[in-house]
Amino acid sequence: ERRYAFYDAHQAGIATPPQDHLVFMSFDLTTQSATELQLVLAKWSAAMAQMCAGEPVGNVEPAREQAVPVDTGEAMGMGPQGLTLTLGFGPSLFDQRFGLAKFKPKLLKDLPAMAGESLDPAYVGGDLCIQACAYDPQVAYHAVRNLARMARTQVKTRWTVLGFGRASAGANQSTPRNLMGFKDGTRNITTPEDLQEHVWVEDSDQSWMDGGSYLVARKIHMLIETWDADYIADQHAVFGRNKTEGAPLTGKQEHDTPDFKATGTDGKPVIPADSHIALAAHENNGGTKILRRGYNFTDGIDSVGRLDAGLFFLSFQKDPQQFISLQSKLGASDRLNEYIRHVGSALFAVPRGLPEAGKYFGQEFF
Ligand code: HEM
Repeated sequence: ERRYAFYDAHQAGIATPPQDHLVFMSFDLTTQSATELQLVLAKWSAAMAQMCAGEPVGNVEPAREQAVPVDTGEAMGMGPQGLTLTLGFGPSLFDQRFGLAKFKPKLLKDLPAMAGESLDPAYVGGDLCIQACAYDPQVAYHAVRNLARMARTQVKTRWTVLGFGRASAGANQSTPRNLMGFKDGTRNITTPEDLQEHVWVEDSDQSWMDGGSYLVARKIHMLIETWDADYIADQHAVFGRNKTEGAPLTGKQEHDTPDFKATGTDGKPVIPADSHIALAAHENNGGTKILRRGYNFTDGIDSVGRLDAGLFFLSFQKDPQQFISLQSKLGASDRLNEYIRHVGSALFAVPRGLPEAGKYFGQEFF
């Protein structure tokens, strides 16, 4: 039975190995009351712990005939399924409504407008978010549904994404493929040293963020029909890797280190300078790394009958600037841009984990 600890120094769902399924939901508060917000955070924290242990959040079949069930029931008997629930606070949570401005970390502000995006307001921002990941999609869905339900008079859903397959790899995990057919997550953060250096916040101006991380969520639409009509050599050049093995164009095996300096007989770099990996690799970005933890998603077809699908890109970093630097570069010159559009975007501060039962996220604010 796969199960991840809920009470821990860091929230689960970041450094824990990516599970197969995701339900991500962004929420807005509808209440103006700080006390009600406090109540939501306390209720959610306790319910998150219960569900990650594979338990319902209350009775499914109350004894009293007129009573409404507390838990909706669809995850009964399924066990934890490696469920992780990760909570984030958006910049807007710290506006004037709840008097929390003094608790806002300096680094938590809306992402700047960047090249290569055409954002749909329906997929932007949010006061709170829940990232639910599990090995069973129904268990992930049940968790988000029940959190939303128990706070229905205080929060409303702003947007949501269902991820149906992981598109990243943790330590000792095989590398899955994104919807372009390429292995995704080959060079990712996996070691404790890299997590410490690039992912976990230290010495924040807000102590509640120490041990936490910043979550960037980008809903990236793929122009699948265009991609599917592209010839293989160009597909290789777009990523700087080959398709079946996922090896860099300068190597043979997936995990061979790319050689960005190697040139071909034409004198040009073998891994094109405008390829996705050449632009994103830490070697070419002053050592910048991010932890990628994205999922493939589909919303069926769009209004003109094209496949509506892509990558729900999720990354964790100790400073949002890590993402901003990389995406500014990618947005301006990535060869991949011909085949993708960033349509959704949000930044959340993910507080550190809870040490024990009875403690709740945001407790420091009240
Ligand atoms: C690497 C796909 C968006 C950052 C890769 C790789 C693929 C890929 C196939 C190579 C395998 C690997 O090392 O994981 C995609 C697709 C995207 C996308 C399909 C959009 C739909 C982004 C964005 C960022 C990003 C928005 C950050 C702003 C990276 C980084 C690497 C990488 C840092 C590792 C580069 C290296 O060290 O070699 N991506 N990616 N990707 N991607 Fe993306």
